[in-house]
Amino acid sequence: MLDKKILLCVTGGIAVYKAVALVSKLTQAGAHVKVMMTESAMKFVTPLSFQVMSRNDVYFDTFDEKDSTVISHIDLADWADLVIVAPATANVIGKLANGIADDMATTTLLATTAEVWIAPAMNVHMYENKAVIRNISTLHGDGYRFIEPSEGFLACGYVGKGRLEEPEKIVDLVREKFTQSKTLPLTGKKVIVTAGPTRERIDPVRYVSNFSSGKMGYAMAEAAAALGAETILISGPVELEKPSGVTVVNVESAAEMFEAVTNHFDSASIVIKSAAVADYRPKNIHDQKMKKQVGDAVIEMERTTDILKTIGKMKRHQLLVGFAAETQDAVDYGIGKLESKNLDFIVVNDVTDPDAGFGKDTNVVTLLSRRGMHQSFSAMPKKILAKVLLETILEEESEHLDDR
Ligand code: CTP
Repeated sequence: MLDKKILLCVTGGIAVYKAVALVSKLTQAGAHVKVMMTESAMKFVTPLSFQVMSRNDVYFDTFDEKDSTVISHIDLADWADLVIVAPATANVIGKLANGIADDMATTTLLATTAEVWIAPAMNVHMYENKAVIRNISTLHGDGYRFIEPSEGFLACGYVGKGRLEEPEKIVDLVREKFTQSKTLPLTGKKVIVTAGPTRERIDPVRYVSNFSSGKMGYAMAEAAAALGAETILISGPVELEKPSGVTVVNVESAAEMFEAVTNHFDSASIVIKSAAVADYRPKNIHDQKMKKQVGDAVIEMERTTDILKTIGKMKRHQLLVGFAAETQDAVDYGIGKLESKNLDFIVVNDVTDPDAGFGKDTNVVTLLSRRGMHQSFSAMPKKILAKVLLETILEEESEHLDDR
């Protein structure tokens, strides 16, 4: 029995009818449900349907105080164990991302300290609109959880992403939330993350390197630690603060990074290789500063060990996640690396994208898996993207995670 108090905020879209089914299924599961509607929601379905299904009054007017001993929107905000906005329109998402409270639903949403889940439903082009993406990304960062819309035939005639998730699935998520044990998904697991560039010395004052800032790797390490993992961050030289709850191992060259990764590899459950490892290093490191000569100079280079490929051959239970920074044909190259390095997942990004790449705070990536998943993520801050990527990977691997 789901003996919990759920406040459902229904905003205006054709999917409102599915919210009626959601209330019905939640109450059947034993939840106490109260419903709040926006004016546009009431254009699709009347409050009476929700009143019947929830066996409770339906709220829509901030100033219609049904009980003189309380202020409704604060009382409801405090009452809820969980708030679900379903269907959530682009409008309510925009208001919430900007702290606007101009009706009963948005006022209550700002007043609640309960967890808020947002289940968007809209036209596919609206869902892909840059402002909507920006607002969703802001809300992710503010701690709101999104129930992704599914793909399919939309009421507007388009086929694509934008359908409100099925009520049964939302009820399953609610059930999962309230029956979840207190342990986090990565509690008891060791995760290795590599980050930043490597430096390959030429002589005591010079080196060969690349522009990697380490931001994506540091964000991945922070996300892994937040999910309960014992996290080892093997970092090339970067100018970033150590993320909380993470053990940092500082390295300089590809060879040092290789050694650090292999030291921790046996006991690791997951290895995330975000580092931009140099593929070549000077064949000879000069003990003394090289003096300039007349004419041009040539530095002979040799290959470094491909760390990921090597551990790909060694792997037993470990889940391997690679990264690929490309400047063309990103997905095709990504698929090639996924196979040749024996990876479970690869995160591919086209570093020529203005919102992606070295040094940026945002990234645009596609996640590919050995099992054939192919999911693109729009531009979002690296810290949020890291969390979303890790959660997506864990969800994909949920059945196999215990064996890792
Ligand atoms: N990688 C590694 N060791 C190397 C080079 C790369 O472990 N010596 C890892 C990176 O950490 C990343 C993945 O391999 O997770 C892909 O790196 P990338 O530089 O994109 O690919 P390369 O294999 O170096 O291929 P290419 O340079 O031909 O694109």
